[in-house]
Amino acid sequence: MISAERIPNNVGLSSNKRLQRALEHWQPKYIQWWRDMGPQGFQDYHQVYVRTAVSVDPAGWAHFEYVKLPEYRWGIFLADPVHDRRIGFGDFMGQPVWHEVPGEFRNQLRRLVVTQGDTEPASVEQQRWLGQRCPSLYDLRNLFQVNVEEGRHLWAMVYLLHSYFGRDGRDEAEELLERQSGNRDKPRILDAFNEPIDNWLDFFMFTMFTDRDGKSQLLSLSESSLDPLSRTTRFMLTEEAHHMFVGETGVARILERTCQLMKQAGFSGDVRKIGGIDIPTLQKFINLWFSLSLDLHGNEVSTNAASYFANGLKGRAYEEKWDDHAVTEALYELEMLRDGRLEKNRIPMRTAMNEVLRDWYVGDCQNGVTRWNRILERHGFSDRLRLPDRKFNRGIGMFSSLHFDPEGHPLTDADWERRRNEWLPSPLDREYLLSIMAEPVYEPGKFANYIAPPQRGIKGAPLNFEYVRTEA
Ligand SMILES: [Fe+2]
Ligand SMILES: [Fe+2]
Repeated sequence: MISAERIPNNVGLSSNKRLQRALEHWQPKYIQWWRDMGPQGFQDYHQVYVRTAVSVDPAGWAHFEYVKLPEYRWGIFLADPVHDRRIGFGDFMGQPVWHEVPGEFRNQLRRLVVTQGDTEPASVEQQRWLGQRCPSLYDLRNLFQVNVEEGRHLWAMVYLLHSYFGRDGRDEAEELLERQSGNRDKPRILDAFNEPIDNWLDFFMFTMFTDRDGKSQLLSLSESSLDPLSRTTRFMLTEEAHHMFVGETGVARILERTCQLMKQAGFSGDVRKIGGIDIPTLQKFINLWFSLSLDLHGNEVSTNAASYFANGLKGRAYEEKWDDHAVTEALYELEMLRDGRLEKNRIPMRTAMNEVLRDWYVGDCQNGVTRWNRILERHGFSDRLRLPDRKFNRGIGMFSSLHFDPEGHPLTDADWERRRNEWLPSPLDREYLLSIMAEPVYEPGKFANYIAPPQRGIKGAPLNFEYVRTEA
């Protein structure tokens, strides 16, 4: 038996017997999944200082306390309803939003919920060994904070599946625990979520770039005509902000330390000789995770994207900022590949909705990279980090059929093979990173040599606070 009180919620769980029964069936499998596929070595003997969502009140939605990870209170929250909310875009604009799933859009909506839901446990699986190589207790706690919240995001999607999609929804909820990141027979749905994340540079780049794709998707789903989907994703965005903070500040702290070490090694010195992470390596990991996360936005020209928009299932990021919400006439200028040549074409904007969302995403990433470059500036270095061209290293979309360098120039296959290790992490780069992360740092207040301490601790606690403690 699960008691509704153990699951913090604002969906009236204690009076919803049907949902309670469905969750009673699913929850033990979730806990088993968390034990098998969640943080390895941090299940029973460690307590982690985490925040738990306990309401949607902006003034105090989270509660901080020490918990053992399998005992985290994964809750279900919808953002407050908007009075008389109307559909804000597409063919049904102006009509009241939906409180049930319309039969004709059931398959499309289920697919959107399942695809989003699949990414949440996938990232926990990808990151499950990182605790054994952490650079500090502060970082270890942040990793687990991200992990438990991705777990809660899975709960959020499973809540929708159980509540609005009947039998099919219950089956999908089971399958969300059966697919596994990187598993050859039952992989996760999207490629970036099958890549291993076995070092902390991957982790910080993932939370910077791939969690930001999560933000893209959540922003567009929060515009949805299906009101429970909109309200669920709106609240998820509150937690998502912290994940991107972990990524952006994680890379910033590595860069800060790299600058200190470059001075120590003499300006031209190789920081690897004194255990740091050099700028070319940082650039390669940006190239990798940015390009993988661009792929997550889908094909440049997409009839699915057009129909999601027309039917009001998925809007643009910050739809209210656009003037035209019907988008029946508007055109979009797209760089296209035709017979191996690049040319600009104007296509109906509805079919370019993936690209429109990608534009928002690229802009948001660029702001982060600009903030990183201020660190280099402040230290007086002329090196700069940059986003590669969006045609670089693509696995999805029209540019995946050709190779491009980070400036966007086409390359022959042979040139690509010869030079790819200049642009993407090589096995040697990965070996080096594992070598400097081999010893975890579990002493309060200590940080690994390759990363600077953060500017402040969590929730006013000092840097030497015991963010993860073993039970007395
Ligand atoms: Fe998430
Ligand atoms: Fe996230």
